This record gives sequence, C-alpha cells and structure tokens, in this order.
Amino acid sequence: MAEIILAKTAGFCFGVSRAVDKVYELLDTGEKIYTYGPIIHNKEVVKDLEEKGVVTLETEEELRSVREGIIVIRSHGIPKYINDYLDESGVKYVDMTCPFVKRIHKVVSSLGKDETVLIAGNPDHPEVIGIRGWCDCENTVIETSEQAEAFTPRDGAKITLVSQTTFSYNKFQEFVEIFTKKGYHITVVNTVCDATRGRQTEAFDIAKKVDVMIVIGDKHSSNSRKLYEICSKECDSTCFIQTLTELMEPEMAGIRDKIKVAETVGITAGASTPKNIIEEVQKHVRHE
Ligand code: F3S
Repeated sequence: MAEIILAKTAGFCFGVSRAVDKVYELLDTGEKIYTYGPIIHNKEVVKDLEEKGVVTLETEEELRSVREGIIVIRSHGIPKYINDYLDESGVKYVDMTCPFVKRIHKVVSSLGKDETVLIAGNPDHPEVIGIRGWCDCENTVIETSEQAEAFTPRDGAKITLVSQTTFSYNKFQEFVEIFTKKGYHITVVNTVCDATRGRQTEAFDIAKKVDVMIVIGDKHSSNSRKLYEICSKECDSTCFIQTLTELMEPEMAGIRDKIKVAETVGITAGASTPKNIIEEVQKHVRHE
C-alpha cells in the first residue's frame, strides 16, 4: 500500500471558508440569498448552495436588478464603483471580501492620482479587476517576466507594486528583481497571501519526493492551477482533478495504474476544495 502524504495546507483557506460559512448561515434567515459571482471556484459547493435556493448573480446587470434579499460579496472583492452602488441602492448586502484583499484595496486607494500601481497577477481574475477598481491612478497588470522586462515607467513616476493574493511568490520576487536591476524606484508591498505561499511551498516539497502527486481543485481556480503547475515541474506523474469521479474516468487509467504501484502518493488541494472531496480521494488512494 502506498504511503500517502497529505498536505496540511490542503483545502479551504481562511477567507474562503469565512465566505462559504456566511452563505450557509444566511440561509437560516429565510431571505432570498444571492452571491455576486460563484462564492468559490468549486462547482460542487456552488451546486449544493443552488439546490438550497442560493442564486448566483453572473453579471452586473443581474446584480443591479436585485431589489430584495441579501447579496453576498465573495472573498475576491469587488471594484469600488460596485461597492458604492450597493451602498447607495439600499439593497442589503454582506461584504465577505477577504481582509487580505481589503488590505490591497486600502493600499492602492491611498495613493495619489499621479502615482502608478503595478499589480502582479492575472488581468482577467475577479480579484485583480476588483483591485483595479480601487485605484484612482494609472495601473498596470503584469503577469509574466516578459511583461515585467518590457515595462517602462513614466519619467519620475512613483510606483507601488502589489500582487494578487494567489500569485506565485517566486514570480513576484522575480518581478522585484527585474525592476531593481532596471533601477526603478518601486515601493514593494508583498500582498501574496501567506496561506497561498505556505500551500505552494508545501506542495513543492511533497511533489519533489513522491511517485505520484494529486492536485485537487477546480479548473477555474487560479491557485489550484498554480499548484498543478508547481507540482508537475517536480513530479512527472502529477494529475489535476476536481473530484474523485474525475480520477475514475477512462483517460485517467494511466495515473490510476501508477497509483497502484507507487510507494508514495502526495495529495494537495486548492483553497476552494472542500474537505469531503479531499477525504474521498484520500480514501480511494488508500484502497488502491
Ligand atoms: Fe484570503 Fe488568502 Fe484565502 S487572501 S481568500 S485567505 S488565499
């Protein structure tokens, strides 16, 4: 039987569990509950909530059409203008933006109009869209080293570098080195979440020493995808699954065979993966 190394940091982080718990708690109020965007990047959890009557508002238009009930803002946060709309509209809402994301909003909104913000992250990610929405000054999103190399600031620009909370810490450091080498005067505010950093480091350490590595997470979850990226560099037999069902699909036969003969199997999971899914996968591997 293979030895299983389960990452201690696998699964819900503080910000996600706080937001998900709040939605379940609000169901007891008997009011109609809405979430602005899926509460987490996990289909299973969202489906369960929808079955209990929670409605996911997919667009701003849908958000603006809500007249009663309670809207929950997820941990990713929202741009300031939407926050302002909610305040003015009088519709009830609960802001579950993760405090670590709120901190970034505070940093960027405190800067002067003539300053520049650089955000290390994915420009399409809702958290980054939210952060940009709190900038009252020029702001640019940098995702790759090539973009960091190509960035040229305005003459005399005062630059502050922050990052999406789930961005790779190593990549963030790489950007800092690139800007330092170029001689730019940049105020660096490391906003990579410790939960993310700890999870990535632990996944890296485990993937290095196991025969098979399993990353559990939703394909839309940026931190889960990043975990997969990190692990697959260290372990050739790394697979990325959302649930146990996916591991049982025909195209996963190869990885299942590897699990059968493996001496060690590592398991980690993204911040939006519920405990029961991790346990199911773990149980299956133990059986194999
Ligand atoms: Fe918050 Fe960190 Fe999770 S920023 S939502 S605790 S990954």
